[in-house]
Amino acid sequence: MIRLDKLTAQAANMTRSQAVAAIKKGRVTVDGSICRVPDQKVGEQAELLLDGQPVTYEKYVYLMMDKPAGYLSATEDTRDPSVTELLPEALQKRSLGIVGRLDKDTTGLLLLTDNGELNHRLTSPRYHMDKVYLATLDVPADGRDVDDFENGMDLGDFTAMPGRLEIDPEDGRNCRVTIREGKFHQVKRMFRACGKTVVALRRISIGGVSLDDTLGAGGWRRLTENEKTFLLANCGLKE
Ligand code: URA
Repeated sequence: MIRLDKLTAQAANMTRSQAVAAIKKGRVTVDGSICRVPDQKVGEQAELLLDGQPVTYEKYVYLMMDKPAGYLSATEDTRDPSVTELLPEALQKRSLGIVGRLDKDTTGLLLLTDNGELNHRLTSPRYHMDKVYLATLDVPADGRDVDDFENGMDLGDFTAMPGRLEIDPEDGRNCRVTIREGKFHQVKRMFRACGKTVVALRRISIGGVSLDDTLGAGGWRRLTENEKTFLLANCGLKE
């Protein structure tokens, strides 16, 4: 059971106070009857209408975003802009967790969800979920770097699990990197250990879900049913 104002806010993408106002005005119908009591407990499967239109409760929200440079992958208030500010107010209220933070200057795929178990399984090295990045380097990479990535690197405070480095044959400064963990500055540190500097970094895939290139910097959308089902199954979960 869930409070009607919470269910209405989540289902209709409203803030809690907007939902309370709508309920008090008699705009919300639960299983065929108007309910004007915001803290009334109702079943999550209740048939909910707002202004006569059906609205559906989402237990969890799953979003992808093309993170722009200059934004923090943080949910807390900071002086820098945070990616959550790019979402509408109702979604900001859902306390979405960011799956695998990106550095301020890194762009590309961010997944945001309030499904904490999915977030854990996508980020924990134990579950071996691939994260794929496009990196541009200051100088070309070579076969020794490919071997170093494949062998797992000692980075001082930890040893990186084996990763895959693919070098663009046209321009050796452009690389595709696949790793299964996500320690702080990991890709930059792995290249640094090979004597190279990453000048641009973009994540293009997590757990087999690829960035939608049509979003553009700062754009976001809900995962499609196929993406959501695939991601959950890949992590051994069902909704
Ligand atoms: N590795 C990095 O170095 N930075 C990121 O933002 C992500 C992975």
